[in-house]
Amino acid sequence: MKKRLKKPTSSDARRTQSLRIKMVVNPWEVSGDINYEKLIKEFGIKPLKKLPEIFDKNILFRRNVIFAHRDIQRILDAIKSKKKFVMMTGLMPSGKFHLGHMLLAQQMIFYQKLGVKLYIAVADLEAYSARNKSLKELREIAIDQYLLNYIALGLSPKNCDFYFQSERSDNAKKSNAYYRLASNLSSYATFNEFKAIYGDISPGKMNASILQAADMLHPQLPEFEGKPLPVLVPVGIDQDPHLRIARDISRRFKDYNFVQLSSTYHTFLPGLKGGGKMSSSDENSLIAMTDSPSEVKTKINKYAFSGGQHTVEEHRKKGGNPDVDVSFQYLRMFFEPDDKKLKDIYEDYKSGALLTGELKGILIEKINAFLKNHQKQRILAKKQVGKFLYS
Ligand code: TRP
Repeated sequence: MKKRLKKPTSSDARRTQSLRIKMVVNPWEVSGDINYEKLIKEFGIKPLKKLPEIFDKNILFRRNVIFAHRDIQRILDAIKSKKKFVMMTGLMPSGKFHLGHMLLAQQMIFYQKLGVKLYIAVADLEAYSARNKSLKELREIAIDQYLLNYIALGLSPKNCDFYFQSERSDNAKKSNAYYRLASNLSSYATFNEFKAIYGDISPGKMNASILQAADMLHPQLPEFEGKPLPVLVPVGIDQDPHLRIARDISRRFKDYNFVQLSSTYHTFLPGLKGGGKMSSSDENSLIAMTDSPSEVKTKINKYAFSGGQHTVEEHRKKGGNPDVDVSFQYLRMFFEPDDKKLKDIYEDYKSGALLTGELKGILIEKINAFLKNHQKQRILAKKQVGKFLYS
């Protein structure tokens, strides 16, 4: 007879820690149980310490979701001395926009509201080689899924250069400068370096990596910001290999004196089923911005990985584990901005006073209220799309 699978309990969770699924974190694959401490050591990045108050107002910084950096001091100095810096990041158009994508979107909007100029690259050329879709299809995904949701979340066309890797600009001087830079950068890296940083590497991936280095560095060119200046690149931790290569190349580059890149890294939003990163490939493990209230309710009740005990009696007695509970993590990362309320939920769940069903109920209500408004904003956003595109 088939053995019935028991629902995971926190003691099971503890046991599986010794049987952790192998962690893979690189720009083209994220899987297994992510150990962020280990990544900090392996990648040679720095944990993010206490930041000035303007950052602390944002829960992603305050709650350590943005947890590590390279050379953030350069940005903090620029803020302090009121010197200009820009933010540069990118997106790979890959399917439905979901809650996981909101992490980066919220950072873009946060910097834009501080008055920082944004450069946002649609990595359509990268996706062309990694995702096997046509450029036309990728353009549509980038606009209908990503841009539309960015606008609905508050992105403004002012102070924002949103572009496609395949069509940098309708201004030939700018466009030439970007592609020339990409080409020139490739002279400053060796094949062995690529192999050491990425392991398995193909010509397509190598090209994507160089182009991303051009994305990150080109704002400093005379044709763009006019002079070398600090650039902050907020990204998911899987993107760090791209930063390592870009920083190495930038250091060696002879034709132009680039200011070294700064970067910050956020943890991934776990998928509903827990672990790893919310991904577009498993519909039952993601919450899309277009999900209906009943879809949200069903998905969370059915799939959201729980840190609770097997039975109510056991849960009341032993309590649950909010640290592995996906519903709690979503509240922490997005949906419960009030620190005091979040702490109460944490403690009540841990003591067993709050049941898994109740915790899920809180999250369902929050997400549905958020999505109701977001979906309205999304309709209004359609009118604004043209302001971000040059043709
Ligand atoms: N490779 C990034 C991703 O997969 C997208 C990207 C392209 C990017 N250019 C960039 C990110 C420049 C940061 C900076 O999401």
